[in-house]
Amino acid sequence: MLYETSSPAHGLAAGTPPSPNWVIDQNWENYTAQEHGVWKTLFERQSRLLPGRACKAFLENMQHLPMRPDEIPDFRRLSEVLMRHTGWQLVAVPGMVPDEVFFTHLANRRFPVGQFIRSPEQLDYLQEPDVFHDVFGHVPMLMNPALADFLHAYGQGGLRAQKLGALDQLARVHWYTVEFGLLQEDGALRIYGAGIASSRTESVFCLEDPSPHRIRFNLERVMRTHYRIDDFQECYFVLRDLDELLELAQVDFAPLYQSSAQQAVLQPGDILASDELYTRGTGAYHHAKRA
Ligand SMILES: [Fe+2]
Repeated sequence: MLYETSSPAHGLAAGTPPSPNWVIDQNWENYTAQEHGVWKTLFERQSRLLPGRACKAFLENMQHLPMRPDEIPDFRRLSEVLMRHTGWQLVAVPGMVPDEVFFTHLANRRFPVGQFIRSPEQLDYLQEPDVFHDVFGHVPMLMNPALADFLHAYGQGGLRAQKLGALDQLARVHWYTVEFGLLQEDGALRIYGAGIASSRTESVFCLEDPSPHRIRFNLERVMRTHYRIDDFQECYFVLRDLDELLELAQVDFAPLYQSSAQQAVLQPGDILASDELYTRGTGAYHHAKRA
């Protein structure tokens, strides 16, 4: 369902950089009626699905953003609001950018957004993140101070992890939080990850299907866990609340990279005796696919 990446979370863009930091003009005026129509279809579909599934922060922040069903949002207007709330801005990029470029943007509180939108024939499949995934999925949570600071720290940590040869481990933390994270809220599990929030099928699967494991988040455990880039996740990790991200932003990952690198890498369907489980998944969905 989501997008494929060739290396950890952000892959490697093909082609020549359009500018040194890969930033381009959004060219909002040039979106066609068909492109706005794809946005509208996706926006309305997710807006129906997310109440009762997405966390309160996601749903409430959406109300405070200049984001409407009728048209692809103008990044300039979104950036004005984001800047006031959490000091972030959006920059348009042509697609996936090299890791170092991505981390440098995040470390400067700039969120790179794919300028293009998927075609009407590919509403549920993306080879790389487009404007719907990046804006609808990520921007409501970028209004949240804890996630905003965590993502900033992730950008800084990414530049360090590159030097330490630990990008895989860091990318897993990002994947299982910012992209596919769940949290506890009012005695239930709720979505905060953008990869889920922007996906019609996974926003239901992650919470309601008996197949995946739902496991209490543990940083070292997550660093060791492979993730799926081509299908629904086999496991989701659950935060106590969003403030746990602020605690994670304070942690020095370097010693954890070393200790987790000495342990076996875990497959997405694995369960450890030390795991605190919300749900032990049946694995039925992925078993059927492998059969
Ligand atoms: Fe994303």
